[in-house]
Amino acid sequence: MSVALVAAALLAAGMALVRYAPERPPGDGDARPVPSSPASAAPGRETLRDLMPPGVKIGSAVDGRGLSLEPAYRALLGTEFNAMTAENAMKWRNLEPLPGVYAWTGADQLVDFAHQHGQAVYGHTLVWHSDVPKWVSPDWPADQVRAVLQEHVTTVVSRYRGRVWAWDVVNEVLDEDGTLRDTLWLRKLGPGYVADAFRWAHAADPGARLFINDYGVEGRTRKSDALLKLVRDLRRAGVPVDGVGFQSHLRWDQPPRDLTGNLRRFAQLGVSVAITELDVRVALPATPQKLERQATLYRQVLRACLAVTACVSFTVWGFTDARSWIPGYHRGYGAACLFDGSLAPKPAHAALLDELRRQLPRAASPSPG
Ligand code: G3I
Repeated sequence: MSVALVAAALLAAGMALVRYAPERPPGDGDARPVPSSPASAAPGRETLRDLMPPGVKIGSAVDGRGLSLEPAYRALLGTEFNAMTAENAMKWRNLEPLPGVYAWTGADQLVDFAHQHGQAVYGHTLVWHSDVPKWVSPDWPADQVRAVLQEHVTTVVSRYRGRVWAWDVVNEVLDEDGTLRDTLWLRKLGPGYVADAFRWAHAADPGARLFINDYGVEGRTRKSDALLKLVRDLRRAGVPVDGVGFQSHLRWDQPPRDLTGNLRRFAQLGVSVAITELDVRVALPATPQKLERQATLYRQVLRACLAVTACVSFTVWGFTDARSWIPGYHRGYGAACLFDGSLAPKPAHAALLDELRRQLPRAASPSPG
């Protein structure tokens, strides 16, 4: 369904034609300030968390097994990052395996770890066409589908009210051609489900920043054009969209076209922008030359984020090749993360540190005499 139809549906739904004004101006970082006290890093070794400028979070997706099983994984997560995203623990299928039966332990462990380490938590993800519990039936009548979706959004956001700074309210709602993806939600609820999800989430936690998240929208593409129009139409209809997440699952040899300019045009809508799931997959074998090009692309994405005031978060989709989703989903590719399988830093990590040092405010030159 075309995005234009979404606008019509929004208006037909009687949405007041008011511009949505976020309670907090975009780009103001976290309404719940992240304590800056990093966990103890190796003496003398600067970390990404040490060097990230205020107002921009440096985060990583977190694999629950790594967190619970590997002390070295926990240590690196705590020293390098001041923010985190649950890679899988907060997905509907994992949170509510049976109707009304919630499995909060995994998500709670992540949130507890984050708060023990002064890290902000980015909630991922409330409404997605993947990882829907199997008990949600496409054969149900629309009102039953709507009821369980509203219950899910409200229950999850309410549970973490005040402990999650932002949510991916909807994830991957656009198809590659820029039309709304043909999903259970669109088929059963119509295009208005997007606005409804944001309103439900806002009602459950008015203090959380609410994002729409997608992939293939990092550069200027037909899909990012459509996303821009969708976000503009939603906000004009008064829907509480605070931010846009750019997943940024990139290939080492395919940099996005005009990432900075693209982020800027979204920021001009009055929303925050965030790099939400960055990884840079490399065609195996990962030679030193390829890893250098990977490092350059990581650096370019960070530079783009830091160049746009509204960019409030820079998150990688896992920090170690040992736990990356890439090899299982992109045959022939891997080595996508900042640290290798033994948690040793790769050129990409050094490139980010170098870029952050270059971006540090120049120390005031000593006054002459
Ligand atoms: O934990 C079970 C394990 O017990 C079981 O033995 C195994 C085999 O069935 O499955 C394990 O669960 C897998 C889970 O990852 C943890 O490894 C799921 O099957 C698998 O589907 C899941 O894949 C995740 C994928 O989203 C689908 O949810 C990836 O880890 C995760 O990196 C990926 O992340 C997505 C974002 O959420 C949205 N943006 C795209 C991104 C990449 O696809």
